[in-house]
Amino acid sequence: MSTPAQPVDARSTDPIGFAVPSSVPTHWYNLNADLPEPVPPHLHPGTHEPLTPPDLAPLFPMALIEQEVTTERYVEIPQTVREIYSMWRPSPLIRAHRLERVLGTRARIYYKYEGVSPVGSHKPNTAVAQAYYNAIEGTTRLTTETGAGQWGASLAMACSLLGLTCEVWQVRASYDAKPYRRFQMEAYGSVCHSSPSDLTEAGRAILAEHPDTTGSLGMAISEAVEVAVKDPGAHYSLGSVLNHVMLHQSVIGQEVLVQLAEAGERQADIAFGCAGGGSNLAGLSFPLIGQNLRDGTTTRVVACEPAACPSLTQGEYRYDHGDVAGLTPLLKMHTLGKDFVPPAIHAGGLRYHGMSPMVSHAVNLGLIQAVAVEQDDAFAAGVIFARAEGIVPAPESTHAVAEAIAYARTAADGEVVLIGLSGNGVLDLPSYAAYV
Ligand SMILES: Cc1ncc(COP(=O)(O)O)c(C=O)c1O
Repeated sequence: MSTPAQPVDARSTDPIGFAVPSSVPTHWYNLNADLPEPVPPHLHPGTHEPLTPPDLAPLFPMALIEQEVTTERYVEIPQTVREIYSMWRPSPLIRAHRLERVLGTRARIYYKYEGVSPVGSHKPNTAVAQAYYNAIEGTTRLTTETGAGQWGASLAMACSLLGLTCEVWQVRASYDAKPYRRFQMEAYGSVCHSSPSDLTEAGRAILAEHPDTTGSLGMAISEAVEVAVKDPGAHYSLGSVLNHVMLHQSVIGQEVLVQLAEAGERQADIAFGCAGGGSNLAGLSFPLIGQNLRDGTTTRVVACEPAACPSLTQGEYRYDHGDVAGLTPLLKMHTLGKDFVPPAIHAGGLRYHGMSPMVSHAVNLGLIQAVAVEQDDAFAAGVIFARAEGIVPAPESTHAVAEAIAYARTAADGEVVLIGLSGNGVLDLPSYAAYV
């Protein structure tokens, strides 16, 4: 009689050792190397002095702290991370022929589709990298916040692949309205709490003052940071905003440059990305902006944010905390103020009071333009896109689709319009039902 096979724990940071296709980027690209002026440093929340690496050590592994401040143009991607990327990378760059026909446009429209990742968005590009560096430096547990759940599901997946436990605080509005990504996080072995929760001092303080709050990313960040700081085996992980996240997402735009050239295009004339904390927009556009700065291409970049949470178009450009309790470093960014609680719009991933310091700086330097999109216009565009291209865009991505469609309707002959389609909306269909 044969003995039953022992289950094998697949969770490991060791490379498997297969030949990753060369079309998967080997390096991340860092816009800091090409900017005419450096990005303003993050400040210590207590002293207001520029942060030093030890200040960040309770939250992040040293490799990510170094990536936060590096000015190297390229950072090598570890083999294990490239192996995992190859499960869905390179993501497709698709010519939207049918959308072009529906719009009657003279432009050529392309979309870079990040919805092919296992969780359906761009977020695993950084989740895998962050979980990897934490795992090899001995972290056992990661804490994080999430809005609609795309980020929480991504980190949960990355932790399950790389041998970490993961605990997520999800903004209450999304926790209640969108349970499916919570189920997905749980399938990956993570724990997901509604935020604000009574598990943390920050959460209890908020609940005492605002018992009926719908929550915000700023509140959920305070909870996740507090738990990480109190547990020596834990670190905190952020799905957007910070410089190292922008770095990891650069695989998107680097692939676009290769894929556009393969399609016979010299450049994208204009690129649209939605902007919550800025990471998919940065990932798509920073390699293109770098090429503008180095090689004289002229791609215009447009950040598309929700009118209900307009940090770039209505916020102030100043130092602010990333969270409500003021536990995070001070970041120079476009902000609506850390206490701003956005209305419970359907694009949960765009409900953040601030913006990536790198994206904010690029907007300030005139390298990126910003527009605010009304929710109804975004969903209307999402439906046009779905009916023409077959993909139901994530509610966040519809903001970029809306601006791109409006632009394409009057574009000049032969203009190349690029859309960052950051995710699909398959788990957000109740939002579409509410709209339709
Ligand atoms: C599909 C999708 N797009 C965009 C965003 C916004 O985040 P960011 O601006 O960091 O790309 C989110 C956030 O959850 C998301 O899930």
